[in-house]
Amino acid sequence: MTAAAIAIDASGLSRTFIADQRPVHALREVSLRVAAGESVAIVGRSGAGKSTLLNLIGALDRGYQGSLRVFGEEVRAMPDRALSRFRNRQIGFVFQAFNLLPNLSVGQNVLLPASFGTELGHGERVERARYLLGEFGLADRFGQMPAQMSGGERQRVAIARALLLQPPLLVCDEPTGSLDGETAAHILGVLHGIQRTHGTALVLVTHDPQVAQSCDRVVRLDKGRVVDAVGAA
Ligand SMILES: Nc1ncnc2c1ncn2[C@@H]1O[C@H](COP(=O)(O)OP(=O)(O)O)[C@@H](O)[C@H]1O
Ligand SMILES: [Mg+2]
Repeated sequence: MTAAAIAIDASGLSRTFIADQRPVHALREVSLRVAAGESVAIVGRSGAGKSTLLNLIGALDRGYQGSLRVFGEEVRAMPDRALSRFRNRQIGFVFQAFNLLPNLSVGQNVLLPASFGTELGHGERVERARYLLGEFGLADRFGQMPAQMSGGERQRVAIARALLLQPPLLVCDEPTGSLDGETAAHILGVLHGIQRTHGTALVLVTHDPQVAQSCDRVVRLDKGRVVDAVGAA
């Protein structure tokens, strides 16, 4: 793989938290490579380190040991402003708890990534936000407030928001966790469609074996270590 073809290159990646003055080794020497356009499912029991790994991959956490390059950039080495800009342009992140802003409408939430600067004009942004909401079955919800929506609907708004600027890397913590089977299958189809047409790398955490199997590779974490990696490298 050439450098440009690698979305994520982690080697010897460790993350230790201190809780009650004791170290918690959330990740231990994880090595993981994800190619551009590849999809990888991260699975494992609760507490295995999945969210910790996603936060690192999503460049939300720089407190690691080892090396983590995202599109060739060592995450820890990027200054704050450069990192914010990098995240905004390169990474779409779907939080497990969605993290929608409650005082903004659905449409405003989806448009949020564009407020940090983008080449897209106002009309284009709104058109794109409406298109994405339509893809997720929420075409008529643009002006609604998140509090008026179900968990599954909010989850889809969060995914639409992550996709607004067409980032080359999409990171999702249980993107179908709040969805019924049929909606989950549809959303998964949309995500893999984006992966194929835009060459987007997709890293997701899931407890659903069907979701995991829809990905090119499955990586299993246990107690902070990669114990099993299945699929084409
Ligand atoms: N900010 C933190 N401070 C202290 N411990 C943490 C923190 N975040 C995660 N942990 C611990 O790290 C381990 C892995 O957590 P996490 O990555 O959330 O697991 P998973 O997402 O697989 O359920 C757990 O033991 C958790 O309690
Ligand atoms: Mg988690």
